[in-house]
Order: sequence, then C-alpha cells, then structure tokens
Amino acid sequence: MIAAAEPSVSVRGREQGIDLVSRQVTDLRMWIAFAGDRQNALDLFGPLGELERAARAGFTPDGEPPGVVFTADIFNGPTLDRVVEADIPVNAGSEDMLSQLGERKRGHKVWLRVNPGFGSGHSRKTSTGGESSKHGIWHENLPGALERIDAYDLDLVGLHMHIGSGADIEHLKRVCRSMVDCVRSIERDVRAISGGGGLPIPYRDGESGIDVEAYFGCWDAARREVEEIVGHRVLLEIEPGRYIAGASGVLVAKTSSYEETESPRGGRTGSDAGAAGGGPWPAG
Ligand SMILES: Cc1ncc(COP(=O)(O)O)c(C=O)c1O
Repeated sequence: MIAAAEPSVSVRGREQGIDLVSRQVTDLRMWIAFAGDRQNALDLFGPLGELERAARAGFTPDGEPPGVVFTADIFNGPTLDRVVEADIPVNAGSEDMLSQLGERKRGHKVWLRVNPGFGSGHSRKTSTGGESSKHGIWHENLPGALERIDAYDLDLVGLHMHIGSGADIEHLKRVCRSMVDCVRSIERDVRAISGGGGLPIPYRDGESGIDVEAYFGCWDAARREVEEIVGHRVLLEIEPGRYIAGASGVLVAKTSSYEETESPRGGRTGSDAGAAGGGPWPAG
C-alpha cells in the first residue's frame, strides 16, 4: 500500500502504534487458555538470521509448547546445522526437509505444514495454499511424509495449515474442516494443531474487521473434534502477524515506476518500500 500521508513520525504516533498493538493482542486473549504457560512463542519463517535474532531476544526452543518453532519449505546448510544443534522444532513445508533433518538427527520434533489444496488471502499474492503455492506438503502426499517420519523416527507434534494472509470466514471454515479431515486420515497421534496466521484486517475506509470470536470459534471447534479423534487434550496455536502489526503504522514510500496494464485494477506501480511480513502490504 502506498499511503499519501504526511511524513511526520512523531513520538505520539509511535505511542499510538504501540497502543494499537497491545489492543490487538488483547483481542486474541481467547487463544491464551490453550497456550499452557507459554503464551509468547516465536514461529520463525526464515533462515539462520531469524534464529539468531530469536536467541538473542531470549527465546529458547525447550518445553512444550516450545519457545521457538522453525517454519520453512526448504533448509539451507547453516540453518539445518543450527536447528539440529539447538534442537529447534521444525514445521516442515516439504517432504524432503523431513529426510534432511532425519539424516542428521533421529527423534527430532516436527510439525507438518499441509497445503490443503486451496488458499485464500487479501490478494492473490498473499494466498499461500493451492496448487500454485510453494508452501506446505500437498495434502495428498501426507502418506509419503509419514513414511519419512517413521523412517527417521521423528516425533510428530502436530499439523499446521496457513492458507494465506487475510482469509475470509468461508475459507476459514473450509480450512478447519480440512484440518480435522487430515488428522483423521493420518491415523496418528498429534498433540497440537496450528491455524497459522492470516487474520484479516480492514484495508479501506468502511471495511469492518474480522469477528475474532467467530474466528476463534471455528478453530476451537476443530480443536475439540481433533481431541475426540486422538483421545486427549490438544493445543491450538495461531501465529498472527499482520493482525497485530499491520495497522500500527503508516508506510510512506515513493513511487519509482508506473506501468499501464489492461488489468481492471489499473496500472502497476513499483516502489522499493522495503516492507514485507507484518507490514501494511498488499493493497497496492
Ligand atoms: C506460516 C505462517 N504463519 C503466519 C504468518 C503470518 O501471517 P499474517 O501476517 O497474515 O498473520 C505467515 C505469513 O506469511 C506464515 O507464512
């Protein structure tokens, strides 16, 4: 999003941003009952640098739920070394990650990030499921992933489904159903399920925010169904990024290029705004 705001970054503005972040976190309080005594864990989606930053900030991977989980679709060498050495649970987005990890360390804690075959998001660019997405183990390939888990005696903690940033409630219901179906189909014990992030935020005047209680209600109902399948208590995790940080600031950026296209949305604007993740993309 390119905001045509006055570039005045004031202390007051920063305080408002921090207040907003605290309010958004408070909104998510219903999840806390399922987080055990660990309510602030980090789910990292990146290479070694993020693991190092998390360690410097005092997050440790011990316990259950652990303080750090590493989510990715591939490993690079130094990151795999660190994950093994520091015993950081891995949320694997590809089957090959399971073998690469298993070759180095049997019994390592893993999650399976599943691509349920569809995605949803604020825009096509923030949808992370479906056949064109690079993320997650394709739902039909779960038997192969389980074979690798068995071959290396990996410890399956849970299943994870993050289908995009800004999923609407219809897709949310669909993904919760897929989660329950997947747990049933794998016939394995799981101790937790994760809905990833993706809680939508309003982008334009007049848009309303997500009904957080309804959102939680969908995932909690799925969690209860999973408890019935596995026969014991199951933790529910979410990884909200944009919901917490997305509206806490204004991105001021310069348009570097503009290209006419035939898209009904108009032309294509280029800008090196240096923002990603929880930043205020992707409205542009
Ligand atoms: C696995 C995973 N979890 C959580 C998030 C955070 O999503 P959001 O900022 O929409 O809450 C992302 C974002 O890409 C992600 O890939």
